[in-house]
Amino acid sequence: MENSMSKEVLLEQFANILDLYGDDITRREYDSLPQKPAHSRTVERTCNGWESAKRRAREQFPKTEHEDVEVPILDKVSMKAVRLLKKQPMIFEDLCNVLEVLPKECRKILNQIQETHGHHLTQIGEAWAIVDPLASGPTDNIVDITGLKKGRFGFITDTHFGSKFQQLTYLNDFYERCYKLGVDYMLNAGDVSDGNGSLYRGQRFEMFLHGYKEQRDFIVDQYPKIPGVSTYTILGNHDESFIRTIDINILEEVQQKRPDLEYIGRRGAYINLVDKAVKTYMQHPDGGLAYAISYKAQKFIEGFASEHKPQIFLIGHYHMTGQFFIRNVHAYLGGCFQSQTPYLRAKGLMPQVGGWIVEFDIASDGWSIEEINSKLIPYYKPIKDDYKNYPR
Ligand SMILES: [Fe+2]
Ligand SMILES: [Fe+2]
Repeated sequence: MENSMSKEVLLEQFANILDLYGDDITRREYDSLPQKPAHSRTVERTCNGWESAKRRAREQFPKTEHEDVEVPILDKVSMKAVRLLKKQPMIFEDLCNVLEVLPKECRKILNQIQETHGHHLTQIGEAWAIVDPLASGPTDNIVDITGLKKGRFGFITDTHFGSKFQQLTYLNDFYERCYKLGVDYMLNAGDVSDGNGSLYRGQRFEMFLHGYKEQRDFIVDQYPKIPGVSTYTILGNHDESFIRTIDINILEEVQQKRPDLEYIGRRGAYINLVDKAVKTYMQHPDGGLAYAISYKAQKFIEGFASEHKPQIFLIGHYHMTGQFFIRNVHAYLGGCFQSQTPYLRAKGLMPQVGGWIVEFDIASDGWSIEEINSKLIPYYKPIKDDYKNYPR
């Protein structure tokens, strides 16, 4: 759960960047980074200048050592190349000329950039370019589930596998209940994994599994399974962190070994049910929750163009549960399966652990929802150190 960016959060994340790239980073170098908390203009405005921002970040968040951080540090010429290639594609000779380096040196620079992964160097014809693979927003793929005469599904989100605060015992219990009730399918709205440890300062100290391999293997081995029932997953911002830094989609990799965990898209996907009669949209948004829990859901629903408006809308990311009926959309905030982390405690945010089981009947017109029954399964008392109950 990310809160709207207060000055303190901005300074904390900015200090993280200083830890990674050095205190002498310039504004231009900062702006060329693939992952940063805010544009340099915002940082400057917030702290009355670039140097003052650095000083304040250091005062409040002194330097920490990141011995296993996955983002390598590029030298200044490579950073310049990154800046140039982000702006526009360039042919090799031009790049050599602008950087004032020999072709041999330029090839070395391109290799170096390639190895950092987060910059996504690609060749377009004769030219080199850096593209942002996550720039285009949710993929909004469409998945059809056919052959059902009515629908019964389990909705979970934010399982954060790899976090010391994951609540796998409760997730197993929830799946068990879904199995007993005979669900047709399960939907997971993202943050299946806890990510690369750099989503906020100190995150890696809240994890017991580090790196995508450990988290992927743990999900493959331990994610609950209902025989004959698929769980459809989308990427949340934590899952996406592996794409940003090492260009790996952890959920695609999980699916290769666990075909029942079907990856259906980034940040958003439509799931059409009951022979295309019922349109469900599952989303993992960005940003923090508003003062009123329902506010963001309401704004999202108001923002759907009529042709994209779903009948059921499932929202992850906020770690809070909720249910609303607005503009003829049945909307659910999904809760989570992660107890309160020190990060959330520091912000005074208490997550709600639990999931939904939703059952609906289709009216005789063949498409509208005649009746919908929603069961919330809450888990009130978090299990301390539950991760220790699951050997790797
Ligand atoms: Fe989350
Ligand atoms: Fe999230």
